[in-house]
Amino acid sequence: MQKDGMSKLQEDASPMDPRTLKIEAAAAALTYVEDGMRLGIGTGSTAEEFVRLLAKKVEEGISVIGVPTSERTAALCRELSVPLLTLEETPQLDLTIDGADEIDAQLNLIKGGGGALLREKIVAAASSRMIVIADASKFVDVLGAFPLPIEINRFGLAATKLAIERVAAGLGLSGALTLRVTGGDAFVTEPFVTDGGHLILDASFGRIPDTRALSNALHAIPGVVEHGLFLNLAHTAILAGADGIQTLQR
Ligand code: 5RP
Repeated sequence: MQKDGMSKLQEDASPMDPRTLKIEAAAAALTYVEDGMRLGIGTGSTAEEFVRLLAKKVEEGISVIGVPTSERTAALCRELSVPLLTLEETPQLDLTIDGADEIDAQLNLIKGGGGALLREKIVAAASSRMIVIADASKFVDVLGAFPLPIEINRFGLAATKLAIERVAAGLGLSGALTLRVTGGDAFVTEPFVTDGGHLILDASFGRIPDTRALSNALHAIPGVVEHGLFLNLAHTAILAGADGIQTLQR
C-alpha cells in the first residue's frame, strides 16, 4: 500500500528499502578505496552494489585493480569495465570488500550464502584489510541462526556428512545438514556446484557458542574443503540501518 503523499519512487528509495541499505553500506565502503589499490571484490547482492559504485569511480578516473571472488562477480566487473587480475597475478591485496550473512560484535562472520566462500576466504586472507558491508539486520549476538555453509569434496559425500555430524555432536551441536541444490524445474533439482567444482552442505546448527572449536574440527575432516565461518578476517564492518551507517572496527 502506498503511504500518503509519497510517490512509488520515493517509497522504493526509503531508507528501510533493503536495496537502499546495501547501496548505502557499499557507498560508505567506497570511501576507503584509494587510487592504486589492489582490491578483493566480494560476491552477493551487497558486493554487487559496491561493484556498480566502483565502476562509476573507475569511469571518473580512479585506478584500481580488482580480484573477483567468484565467476559471477568477475562477469559483472567485466560488464562494467572494472579492471581485473587473478589472484595468481596479484597475490597480495590491499583491501577486500565483501558482504556477509551474519556478523557478530567481534566481526566474526558467517559467509557463503552465495556459494563463494572458498574464494572469498582465500581472497580475504590475502588482503591487508577486509571490510564487510551489510544491512544492519545481519548483525547478531551469536553466529548460527543462518545455516553454516560447508564446502565439501564431491567424493565421499555421505562419509563427510557423517563426520561433520559426529564432530558437531562432540561440540553439543546438532541440526540438519542439507545439500544445497539449484536450478532445474519443479521436479528436477541439481546439486549446487561451486566455482571450484565442489558441493555445499548447509548446516542448521543454530547458535554456535564456540566458533573456533567448530572451525578447527571442520578443518580436520578430510572431505571438508572450507567452511563459512570467517574468524579474525574482517577488520571493519559497515552496517546500514534505518538510523544510518554504523561502522565497527576490530
Ligand atoms: C557469498 C556471500 C555473500 O557475501 C553473502 O551471502 C551475503 O550476500 P548478500 O549481500 O546477497 O546478502 O558470502 O558467498
